[in-house]
Amino acid sequence: MKVLGIETSCDDTSVALYDSQSGVAENLVSSQVQMHNHFGGVVPELASRAHLVNLLPLVDHLLKSQNLELKDLDAVAVTAGPGLVGALLVGLSTGKALAMSADLPLVGIHHIEGHILANALTNEMVFPAMVLVVSGGHTEVIHMPEIGVYEKLGGTLDDAAGEAYDKTAKLLGLPYPGGPPIDQLAARGTPGRFKFPRPLQKDPRLVFSFSGLKTAVRLAVEKLPPPLNDQDVADVCYEVQEAIVDSLTDRLFRAARLKHVKAVYLAGGVAANSGLRQRTAREAKKRGLHFVAPEGVYCTDNAAMIAYAGWCHLNAGRCDGLDLDSFPRGTLTSWR
Ligand code: KG4
Ligand code: ZN
Repeated sequence: MKVLGIETSCDDTSVALYDSQSGVAENLVSSQVQMHNHFGGVVPELASRAHLVNLLPLVDHLLKSQNLELKDLDAVAVTAGPGLVGALLVGLSTGKALAMSADLPLVGIHHIEGHILANALTNEMVFPAMVLVVSGGHTEVIHMPEIGVYEKLGGTLDDAAGEAYDKTAKLLGLPYPGGPPIDQLAARGTPGRFKFPRPLQKDPRLVFSFSGLKTAVRLAVEKLPPPLNDQDVADVCYEVQEAIVDSLTDRLFRAARLKHVKAVYLAGGVAANSGLRQRTAREAKKRGLHFVAPEGVYCTDNAAMIAYAGWCHLNAGRCDGLDLDSFPRGTLTSWR
């Protein structure tokens, strides 16, 4: 079965082809980062307009490079939410039009389910599992007893982990999105120069809070003589990353113990973070838990994960009608 995937929930326009015989045939991502970087964050209307300009040419490019026509496909899978509604509508309308014109089944995908199932794109997943979803808009601990079954155990009370990276990067004068530069600079940082908070560590709930981190970083930066030199910035990045990774892995492994799972997984853009991947690998090994980090290209937003999730749903006999609506917010279990 050949499934065309479409992802436009935020600032990446992506199309992909998943073939159930051979895996991901192609995954194209057109990033809008440079445009939004100018404003220090994603501007929703500009994102929608850029999707409108880029999406159909990307589909066309993919079909040509795969030597396929629309009628050769078996289905269209498209992100229905959560995300920026205008951006989602561009992908959803395009997906519907393509499905209708070639008489193909259409399946709407929850963006977070796509991120989680990205773990299955290159390695078979082991269940029961605990998944830490960490992206620009989400930080959640999700128990997954088997494929397609999700139980949210906890989440952030304020900012998402990706937002914590993006906001602290902005304070340090680093570009948007802030995760990749902080990740790189942290590797050159000196441990111990700053101390940032790890809130809610003693809270029995599986909850996170990252909003205090940006204040702590701002106060630390204000105490340094301006302008900040490269080593100052690297040292702050090191401790920002430590604080975020400590909180994330504490809750992930607490949840893993609570539910006696066999495996832990990371999902979402922050799963690309080298500090988080290394720490999770180390802690999982200590506890005898299975862990393989998802491939970097499948951590940040991409349509391969959407096409694959679409195939899983179609395989289970589920698809949607042409009246499928988008949703800006909605949990994994409640949106359908
Ligand atoms: O999943 P994603 O691509 O988009 C959303 O669904 O939000 O995640 C984007 C987030 C951004 O906040 C970005 O800073 C973060 O993922 N990110 C990283 C890294 N690469 C991307 N955070 C930390 N380290 C990275 N290497
Ligand atoms: Zn995402």
